[in-house]
Amino acid sequence: MMSSIADVLTSEQLHQCRQALEQATWQDGRQTAGHIAVAAKSNQQLAQNDPLAQQLGDFILECLGQCPGFIATALPLKVLPPRFNRYAGGATYGNHIDNAIFSVPGTPHRVRADLSATLFFSEPDEYDGGELVIEDSYGSHRVKLPAGHLVLYPSGSLHRVEPVTRGARLAAFFWIQSLVREDHQRGMLLELDKSIQALTRQLPESPELVRLTGVYHNLLRHWSQT
Ligand code: NI
Repeated sequence: MMSSIADVLTSEQLHQCRQALEQATWQDGRQTAGHIAVAAKSNQQLAQNDPLAQQLGDFILECLGQCPGFIATALPLKVLPPRFNRYAGGATYGNHIDNAIFSVPGTPHRVRADLSATLFFSEPDEYDGGELVIEDSYGSHRVKLPAGHLVLYPSGSLHRVEPVTRGARLAAFFWIQSLVREDHQRGMLLELDKSIQALTRQLPESPELVRLTGVYHNLLRHWSQT
């Protein structure tokens, strides 16, 4: 299931990130591509040990931790430190599937990528091309969101970034190990959660709300792994 989450960053937070990224030292993105992906990749990235990247990554993790839409959709157990990329001058990243397991830099920890995330820093009218194209069983989805918005999609999906033919596309990207590994179970929990939220507004006194909320927690108890 692919989901977009609006306003993960406020305009003030976005402005701070953009200002920081303007000072950044961009490197050839092929340095971090696997041997299959390297042929397909021509973007730029910040080095993972770049202090600016680490500082911005921490800031984004903090924003995500305060974003109810992200938490309800991803049910995050572990979130890898965000990385940053820049596509300009025809840069592209051809069809690929992300790695399954990532090491957390500087730690012995490993994270299973259940969900892939892209957080957009550039407004859609600042660049041409640059759509994130995600293939799933319902076809192919072209994603180009307003700055500050996030897209989440299953890490097992084939995806690419179309060439950027004007301007520059700045984004953060990262992976999440979810409490609930199976995408369809996560999707059902999100539907139930949204319905409970809506009923809470419409029928706040309803005793069935307590029971439905119990069903949500009991399903989460059954399906989650920590
Ligand atoms: Ni990817």
